[in-house]
Amino acid sequence: MILLGQPGSLEKLLLCNILPSGSGGWTKYQQIMDWKQEDILAVLARIQDPVTGKPVTEMKMIRDLHIEGKDIRFQFHITPRHQSYKSDLMLLCQSHLADHFPGAEAHIHFVTVGAGPEMPQAEDSKPLPQVKHIIAVASGKGGVGKSTVSVNLALGLKALGARVGILDADVYGPSIPTMLGLTGQRPRVEEKGGKPVIIPLEAYGMPVLSIGNVVEPDQAVVLRGPRLAGIIRQFFLECLWPELDYLVVDLPPGTGDVQLTLVQTVSVTGAIMVTTPQPVAVADAIKAMNMFLLPNVAVPVLGVVENMSWFTPEELPDHRYLLFGEGGGAALSEKGHTVLLGQIPLIQGIREGGDSGMPAVLRQDHPSRPFFLAIAEAVARQVAVRIASGQETPIVKLKE
Ligand SMILES: Nc1ncnc2c1ncn2[C@@H]1O[C@H](COP(=O)(O)OP(=O)(O)O)[C@@H](O)[C@H]1O
Ligand SMILES: [Mg+2]
Repeated sequence: MILLGQPGSLEKLLLCNILPSGSGGWTKYQQIMDWKQEDILAVLARIQDPVTGKPVTEMKMIRDLHIEGKDIRFQFHITPRHQSYKSDLMLLCQSHLADHFPGAEAHIHFVTVGAGPEMPQAEDSKPLPQVKHIIAVASGKGGVGKSTVSVNLALGLKALGARVGILDADVYGPSIPTMLGLTGQRPRVEEKGGKPVIIPLEAYGMPVLSIGNVVEPDQAVVLRGPRLAGIIRQFFLECLWPELDYLVVDLPPGTGDVQLTLVQTVSVTGAIMVTTPQPVAVADAIKAMNMFLLPNVAVPVLGVVENMSWFTPEELPDHRYLLFGEGGGAALSEKGHTVLLGQIPLIQGIREGGDSGMPAVLRQDHPSRPFFLAIAEAVARQVAVRIASGQETPIVKLKE
């Protein structure tokens, strides 16, 4: 059993992305089923139109689909703006179909048509329009406090009066379910407008969706390429996110498929880099930060959070022990031409809050609360600066 819990509509919705192509389960499933148009379209729906960002099947780009034995034939209608993406689209279709329908041979005939009303342009198709700002929380390596910052930042922004959601996309160590007391729970799937959509879980009045509530940990870590990308896209686009001011996304450490899918799926308002003061953490964080700053990615780095900055023992309240050195956060923010959003000391209660599902910022008298609230305010300020700049992060296209 790959997914948590019993088979149901969530499995059906995520099936194409979760079952490895070599798995006996999927192959058997395919052998006893005749390939149906809707199955093929469901697989092709994972491919985004590089111009509008919408699934190609929604854009009436796939037409005249015929299945003859192993041959899958269809026309792919494109506009002149798609010309430079033709080979990418061809490859994507072939690899998706080969992955899900072993032995299939795709025969794709590209037809260039004018940009008519059936081919909406990028401007009228902002994905996830109900979410004002997507904030990606990133780091160079694991264990620096990315998830701790994500939950306490999200709840801090909520405490300031914002509507906030959390999306945990850390396939290598989804810890949001533990940190928000949601372990073992599974999101429901409902039918909306004829389509199945995932209903996020809820914690402390916040909608939450974590890969840890959907996929078993040992399966999550081996997810790669198109399957992983498909799940991440579903988390954004096939999930019933309510109207939100901020959706905080807890990313896996480093740079990889999740980061690439994120920037190809939605317009990310900005990234927050988390690091400890140590030079090794900073060196890794610079690499992760540079991915956002690539000219064709162009996600602004809103700032840096330095975590585990010092330790103050209870009996020596005036002492600060710099266990992990100092200056890492400042060095990283300088390198990224951005600001240091704040520093968080090492406090036992922060770890306990994470382990118990009751984040520290929720405790009025917790010594870490002022640090997290100050960071939430600084993030809101940086977002306001970004809005004032009049710039919006473009969704990364498959090919520039
Ligand atoms: N400032 C802090 N003080 C005490 N413990 C912390 C602090 N920041 C994080 N932790 C603990 O360190 C561990 C790693 O943090 P986590 O947020 O899971 O890191 P990451 O998401 O980067 O892997 C967790 O057990 C967390 O509770
Ligand atoms: Mg984490």
